[in-house]
Amino acid sequence: MRALKISSLFAMVAIAASACGGAATPTAAPTAAPAAEEPTAAPTAAAAEATTASEPAAATGGELKIAILAPLSGPVPTFGVSTRDGALLAIEEWNAKGGVNGMKITPVVEDSQCTPDPAVNAANKVIDQDGVKFIIGEVCSKATIPVSDIATEKKVILISPTSTNPSVTVDSKGKVKPYIFRACFIDPFQGTVGAKFALETLKVKTAFIMLDQSNDYVKGLAEYFEKAFTDGGGQVIGKETYTSKDTDFSAILAKVADTKPDVVYLPDYYNIVNLAAKQAKEKGITATFLGGDGWDSSDLDTAAAEGGYFTNHYSPEDTRAEVQNFVKSYGEKYKDDSGNAKVPDALAALAYDATNLLMEGIKAAGSDDTTKVNTTLEGITFNGISGKITFDANHDPVKSATILAVKDGKVQFNSVVNP
Ligand code: PHE
Repeated sequence: MRALKISSLFAMVAIAASACGGAATPTAAPTAAPAAEEPTAAPTAAAAEATTASEPAAATGGELKIAILAPLSGPVPTFGVSTRDGALLAIEEWNAKGGVNGMKITPVVEDSQCTPDPAVNAANKVIDQDGVKFIIGEVCSKATIPVSDIATEKKVILISPTSTNPSVTVDSKGKVKPYIFRACFIDPFQGTVGAKFALETLKVKTAFIMLDQSNDYVKGLAEYFEKAFTDGGGQVIGKETYTSKDTDFSAILAKVADTKPDVVYLPDYYNIVNLAAKQAKEKGITATFLGGDGWDSSDLDTAAAEGGYFTNHYSPEDTRAEVQNFVKSYGEKYKDDSGNAKVPDALAALAYDATNLLMEGIKAAGSDDTTKVNTTLEGITFNGISGKITFDANHDPVKSATILAVKDGKVQFNSVVNP
């Protein structure tokens, strides 16, 4: 792949040196920044909401509607909440500066459930009823793929913050879909990074793959991991499928226990990982569990996933100033149930990046004409929280991946892998 992202690379090397000097040393960084903000805790969330609602003074050139399609209900609600909150923070900041091209930005949030039909209905609703020309979303590849076809047909710009399957931006004939972009790397890279980490860092030889074939993301990632693992000299000694409705993984885990692989690759979302990894621990399986960005959730069962690793887009421990500023603003605006500052996960960071990227594209176009914005996005260079973004010919950013470890009940930074 091309051009190394020098700035983020340097910053990441700095973290690798400081935070990682032993994955065993928990760093204070992720909690330190939010903790410092606690005195302002109580009034912030309400005040922040009021800010979004009280911006009309800035608007001189009308209103710009941005739809946020996020899975607020369904199997993976933390994905939806983080995505919505990251996008709303970016919109609030733009409105505080006077909007974009004099237009006040109005978010239109829809619950798209990480599922094709509700996501397609939400897309049709925001486009046909609300008159939206710009969409941030969906999160899950299997929902974004059908939505991207509607957006292409209606010349609506869509930036998925997080959908990593190649088919989001490229059609079945291999042609790039105009108007469709993403803010994240893609799964051929993510799967390869996972396989190389297993072979070169964990120095393992055998893998067992568990997958849900009806989920484009899971299926793709399993395939890319298998290819890279095998090409790198590893052996896949078992591969079993389940469905998204399954809650009992004992039949598959019995095969894992029999074949004794070094690693189990489970590239699914946290809801499935919580069930399968817990049942594996109960069965006494000691293989290392590995996964992808779908593990990233405040609801990941870290006891069940203890000892595992996953590839991801970002770490809140990154020492770059833009990352720490974002962690601070996010923590000031959003609190958990106990009133503590929330630490933004990769979904929040990517939604924030995708929204800022879109605003920069609209600003550079000097217009909300989607054909013009399509052109400015194609040529943009954008420095995001999750790294520097420029688009390749398929509208995919080429970016580094972060490896996170689940250790001592916490998700900890492990290392960075560049394209
Ligand atoms: N990459 C996942 C998909 O394409 C979505 C995801 C991204 C989930 C980041 C969690 C974190 O479906």
